[in-house]
Amino acid sequence: MQNHRFFSPELSQKVELLKSRTKKVQLGAIHFDSPLLLAPMSAICNSSFRVLMETLGAGGTVSELVSCHGINYGNERTLKMLDLNPLEKNMGIQIFGENAISMAKAARIVEKSQPKFVDINMGCPVRKVVNNGGGSALLKDSKKLSGFFKSIKNAINIPLTIKIRTGWDVDSINASEVINIAKGEGIEFVSIHGRTRTQQYKGSANWDLLEKIKSNSPLPIVGNGDLHNESQVRNRLAITNCDALMLGRGPVRDPFIFLKPFINTDENISFSANDYLEVIRLFNALMEEQDMRPRHHMIQLRKHIVWFAQGFPGVAKFRQLCFQTNTKEDAMRVAEDYFGNLQRAQKNINLDESFMAGGHG
Ligand SMILES: Cc1cc2nc3c(=O)[nH]c(=O)nc-3n(C[C@H](O)[C@H](O)[C@H](O)COP(=O)(O)O)c2cc1C
Repeated sequence: MQNHRFFSPELSQKVELLKSRTKKVQLGAIHFDSPLLLAPMSAICNSSFRVLMETLGAGGTVSELVSCHGINYGNERTLKMLDLNPLEKNMGIQIFGENAISMAKAARIVEKSQPKFVDINMGCPVRKVVNNGGGSALLKDSKKLSGFFKSIKNAINIPLTIKIRTGWDVDSINASEVINIAKGEGIEFVSIHGRTRTQQYKGSANWDLLEKIKSNSPLPIVGNGDLHNESQVRNRLAITNCDALMLGRGPVRDPFIFLKPFINTDENISFSANDYLEVIRLFNALMEEQDMRPRHHMIQLRKHIVWFAQGFPGVAKFRQLCFQTNTKEDAMRVAEDYFGNLQRAQKNINLDESFMAGGHG
């Protein structure tokens, strides 16, 4: 994806240089230009955010989770979630559900949107999903998985992937068993959030376990969990056995996280407050093209502006100001003022503060 259409020549040049350093990866039948992928996140990973992240170096992206039943009922809002931006070439659509026939039917509809792959959500810990047997509840029912995967795989002609947790709870860690079943049914790769379902978002992702699971895995593994800033990503990339890494909350606060790990230590490359402002302008323009309802556009814009501002000086006051705006134009105006006045200030995120400790995977 080219950047010169979107950014100033200075920012484009940095982005292109760093993108040229990423290592290509082949995960089963699926190719990505970088081993750093955007994790699926509900209410965040719409097509505008996905394009933004791919423009800024994500090797691939995954949609937010979409209900197989919503798809099959032809629910208008749900079907809209299957729309891709024409610029998207490396994205997967994630679906969730408990029933093989419904999932297969939904996957066939999803395929018409021409994503690169279909991903099955097997990590969602949310009670409403789990109580119906979907999301991470699928991990508890490994006997059903072979038939479940087979039905969905047979319904489509594009690759199928899964995203799991390490297990239901600490006494039933079964990621390796699930991976072996997935291998038998032609799944291309497995993304693993390094927590159990009962852990929800508490504690830390267990990277020792993820590395161990990978070392015995017959399938490519995408490791995920708690890679919140560029040094955590760089350090993990340097030592990991995993074939790729998936980042969720990190890019929400720092959209340059897919590029920063590729800055050499002796180089004087950094991203200024003005660069973040350029990212916000592009995000706003992409949402304009996505033809969103104005109120939804404004809500999305405000929350992302405030997340991107985290770690810059005076962010608490700015957050209040931004959330008081009532139109996207006003939200952009306060963002222009705030980021425009930051000049050479550096972003410094406090990793000790918990950030979005809840989600659907
Ligand atoms: C707000 C939010 C929404 C999420 N939605 C999904 C989802 O729709 N599907 C999914 O598989 N995982 C979902 N997740 C889980 C993330 O994909 C990821 O596994 C998790 O956040 C750990 O990665 P991180 O520490 O890099 O954020 C969500 C997480 C958050 C914070």
